[in-house]
Amino acid sequence: MDRKLVEAPAIAPEVSASAGKPNLLSVDQAVDMPLEQMNQLFVDHLNPGQLHFMKLLGFHKVKIESAEGVFYTDQNGRKILDFFGGFGSLSFGHNHPRILAARKKFQDQKRHEIAMAFLSQYAAALAHNLAAIAPQDLDMVFLGSSGSEAMEAALKVAERYQGPKKSKILFAENAFHGKTKGVLSITDSALYQSQFNLVDDVVKVPFGDLEAIRTALESDPEIGIVCLETIQGGAGIIEAPAEFWQGLRKLCDEKGVLWVADEVQSGTGRSGKFFAFEHYGVVPDVTALAKSLGGGKTAMAAMIARKPIYMKAYGKPATALIHGPATFGGIGEACITSIEALNVMYDDDLMENAESVGAYLKAQLQDLQSRYPKLIKDVRGRGFMLGLEFQDFSKTMPTVVRPALAMLDEKLKGSLSGFIGSALLRDHDVLVAFTEYNRNVVRLQPPLITTRENVDQFIAALDKVLSGGVVKIVTDFVKSQRG
Ligand SMILES: Cc1ncc(COP(=O)(O)O)c(C=O)c1O
Repeated sequence: MDRKLVEAPAIAPEVSASAGKPNLLSVDQAVDMPLEQMNQLFVDHLNPGQLHFMKLLGFHKVKIESAEGVFYTDQNGRKILDFFGGFGSLSFGHNHPRILAARKKFQDQKRHEIAMAFLSQYAAALAHNLAAIAPQDLDMVFLGSSGSEAMEAALKVAERYQGPKKSKILFAENAFHGKTKGVLSITDSALYQSQFNLVDDVVKVPFGDLEAIRTALESDPEIGIVCLETIQGGAGIIEAPAEFWQGLRKLCDEKGVLWVADEVQSGTGRSGKFFAFEHYGVVPDVTALAKSLGGGKTAMAAMIARKPIYMKAYGKPATALIHGPATFGGIGEACITSIEALNVMYDDDLMENAESVGAYLKAQLQDLQSRYPKLIKDVRGRGFMLGLEFQDFSKTMPTVVRPALAMLDEKLKGSLSGFIGSALLRDHDVLVAFTEYNRNVVRLQPPLITTRENVDQFIAALDKVLSGGVVKIVTDFVKSQRG
């Protein structure tokens, strides 16, 4: 066999390879890898372009050694407060002890993983739990491993139900539903869609605009699916009012259209309720979860459909296998992880915590906004799904910093959120997230276990950064680039 022999980077200790074994790094070598080598291997084998952005923000200098609760610990023993929360995938924090214990027990008992041949008691229990949590007849569950996969499954079940003559999908401006080939067609980003051949049976309307949806449905009877994030994440934490959702439910019922609610980011308790649509007193026809459903330890995703919809799509022996699970859909330890995570969510009142401590965080941010109106434009969202929008300085950066800015990447020039995020990590041991489509928005999605004390630490750090004013924020950033 013509096997490519991998040359270990010079800085890696050589593995004494037995004959024919490529020069593989060991687990210990992976764990102990020096930063310099991590950077190099990222360039050589993962994503050189992405490293460019990590370097701009200073993230390439950090090696995380461990993570527990709401903190990472880096190579220097520095504890970093995590208000990024893996874009919403760390509702239970890092390495929750109950979730770890459930996984360990599963391993110690040598339980089976792949469940393609036999029925899986673990998948059955997880599906039961999800059906018990989901309202009304959202009872039928498909398990997968990523949000994109769950959303693909959501669109497929809806299309099977509607049939080919009513299979067009209506979606929203600035939507993010994933990057796999199908959902990419309704992920509203010219960058992500770059020149791929996409599904063209889609119609775009502004988010939260009921009249635009009505007009679209009335002018095109082939639209059979309305797919929306309940709270737009990638767009920068954008909500629509309760009347919109109630009107949407009514409209979809009138027109025989299915409403697919993407809860990949807003679900699993993040907004203060298990599904964000529960805030509005309405129930979609199909929904999807991922991210925190994996308890911060595994890749788990679920599509949940109303029973009659599922039964029409896949309910008979002849149709059942059209959508059978992928190889790793609903595997053992992943299901156990999610089952324990869901129990922790209710036993520890995490949604109540998200609601009350999230409201506290929002109030503290609004207080900062009133003190720094020239820097903070808006504070929005609910629970632990908050957006902090900074003023756009792209055209109005103070003249003193303009020459220094010339050296920076186009994308960063007006982006206070980039400069502030970088300062928070560099000087204050706090991690925050940026937003795909709006570079002025920082997304705050800390674990649902976050306490008021953690919020106070975050607010004090942000206050300190903002109190320096825009010139200091930018010049400190530029200095850090040179240093
Ligand atoms: C609302 C929403 N839908 C779908 C996805 C895709 O999920 P994944 O990255 O797990 O494929 C994401 C990911 O960020 C998301 O935020």
